[in-house]
Amino acid sequence: MANPVEFDRWLDDEFVELNTELEEAYFAARAEIVRGDPDLDARREAILFDGAKLAAGVLDAGELPDDPVARYQLLGSVGGYLGAVRRHQIDTGHADVLAPAWTLAWTLAAPLGVAPRYVFAHQCLYGHRLFTALRDERIFVTYNALGVLAYRRAAHALRQIPPMGVSTPMTGYLLADARTALEDVLRFNRLLAAELDVDRFFFNVRPYFKPYRVGTKEYRGANAGDFAGINEIDLLLGLCRRDDPFYARILAEKAPYVPPEDQAPLRVAGTGPSILDQFLAAANAGRLTGELKQNAATFLDVCRAHGAAYSFHHNRLVRPYLVEPAGRSPDAEDLTASGPPLPVVLEFLERLSDLRAARNRPDLRTAHGDLRALRAAVDGS
Ligand code: HEM
Repeated sequence: MANPVEFDRWLDDEFVELNTELEEAYFAARAEIVRGDPDLDARREAILFDGAKLAAGVLDAGELPDDPVARYQLLGSVGGYLGAVRRHQIDTGHADVLAPAWTLAWTLAAPLGVAPRYVFAHQCLYGHRLFTALRDERIFVTYNALGVLAYRRAAHALRQIPPMGVSTPMTGYLLADARTALEDVLRFNRLLAAELDVDRFFFNVRPYFKPYRVGTKEYRGANAGDFAGINEIDLLLGLCRRDDPFYARILAEKAPYVPPEDQAPLRVAGTGPSILDQFLAAANAGRLTGELKQNAATFLDVCRAHGAAYSFHHNRLVRPYLVEPAGRSPDAEDLTASGPPLPVVLEFLERLSDLRAARNRPDLRTAHGDLRALRAAVDGS
């Protein structure tokens, strides 16, 4: 009977080898998948059946870890297997084979209150698991992970400001920390754009992030936004609002996909006054002098850095790595990680980008006017 250690060993070795061989064949054909080749079919079947056997062995052994971290890691393991099965399109017509892996995923996820699938946290915070040995997958996962860590650092700094108030010397330190963290996000995004090959990403990396079924229910794909940090930053800065139905829906939808420790921060984010509100209150009361004014100037830098990093994501990652190759490969299916058609996802991302960059959009309530008012108060005009 298999145990989680054997399952993980297989995932680190044979699984990576099989996926890599399959990806090289797909890449040579510049295709999402290559069918009708007995060698490739044999490799796909090895993934399907060997993984299913190991997952069933773990389930039958009946000794699932009590430790929540080990449980979550094991969910990532079985989820990685199911993600690859979906990627190679061997998930249909094999419900009997996959049933133990689905049960294992549910059993692990239920007490943690998370979706029964692997998410980006499994790849970057609970290990550094890769599907293939391909250079471009390593580059993609690593820079996404570094971006996630930098967003977390910014959120950690900003979270401490509302109870402290915006006028203290510590506030200036925390804002400067958030600014450098967000500048790091942009730096990692730029490095990713410089190093990641468009076709490799499109054909060999992206397909592992698709939605997949666990039993009868489909769970949407994974992305580097599935953490509380980015939303805490939006709300603490005052660029997005919880009472905006568009944004509230994002928070609610995301909850099962963030790691367990991010669920409470996601729930409380934005329930108090934002940092922007606090600065505006001081400016309206004519108190924006000395340290407070200096802090407000740093705050405006933080907002600019957040908008710049996310605009880069939209214009220099999403467009060239997803939208443009999709236009050249009309047959590619399920282009986005979340599942809706690409134009719908693009519109959603564009709206988020405009909120985060506080753009002046007549049809949308952004923080544009408030930031301009604060800028005027800082500049003394
Ligand atoms: C969400 C694409 C890299 C952060 C998304 C989405 C897409 C996407 C399409 C929408 C979710 C969906 O798939 O439906 C890409 C591409 C990348 C890339 C093509 C690189 C080639 C990164 C990096 C970061 C990042 C490096 C940095 C941490 C985010 C965030 C969201 C997101 C925060 C969620 C939006 C939100 O709910 O706030 N990405 N991404 N992405 N991505 Fe990326």
